Amino acid sequence: MLVSGGGSNLQSFIDRAASGALDLDIRAVIANEPTAFGLERAAAAGIDAVAIDHRAYPTREAFDAVLADRIDGYSPDIVLLAGFMRILSDAFVRRYEGRILNIHPSLLPRYPGLDTHRRALEAGDSEHGVTVHFVTPKLDGGPRILQGRVPVLADDDASTLAARVLAVEHRIYPEAVRLLLDGRIEYRDGHAYLDGGRLDSPLPFPAES
Ligand code: GRF
Repeated sequence: MLVSGGGSNLQSFIDRAASGALDLDIRAVIANEPTAFGLERAAAAGIDAVAIDHRAYPTREAFDAVLADRIDGYSPDIVLLAGFMRILSDAFVRRYEGRILNIHPSLLPRYPGLDTHRRALEAGDSEHGVTVHFVTPKLDGGPRILQGRVPVLADDDASTLAARVLAVEHRIYPEAVRLLLDGRIEYRDGHAYLDGGRLDSPLPFPAES
């Protein structure tokens, strides 16, 4: 898992792996910010916590090459971005094609990039949410897998809205990972597939009954 900050999504995976709710062995947590609290969460759970400060490398490609080497040393089946605030080079993304997911706090394709909660409020949206998607070279633009919605309330500010979204993040990301690990979700030719059928729009989360 790659993080840059607080790591509350990481924690949701740690907790599910520990309780057996998700069959996941988190091999390592790598952060580009040496002070990321996510590293402390990892260490407290007995998971390898690795800091690779991007500022120590002259180019994005140089950082990404070192990052990929460290990741490959753990031979992971999948790579999860959880609040990882670095844009990744095309070469890096292609190396993990179909095996790398991201969680983004908006109803993509709305609001790729930063400040999603503020932007949703400024646009007067009545709904906001979160998307789990395959990572491709297009920033926050890879095929979407699951999407969770929350209402925007009249008295929301960016932080109350972010908290409502984050609560869904902690449930939706493990669910997407379960689908990937079970082989139900796949990436092929720029599209996501569920049980062999192309997913042209993301699955709603929680599932509609
Ligand atoms: C989450 O909102 C995630 O969607 C975004 O960055 C935030 C990370 O939060 N990409 P945390 O570090 O998991 O608490």
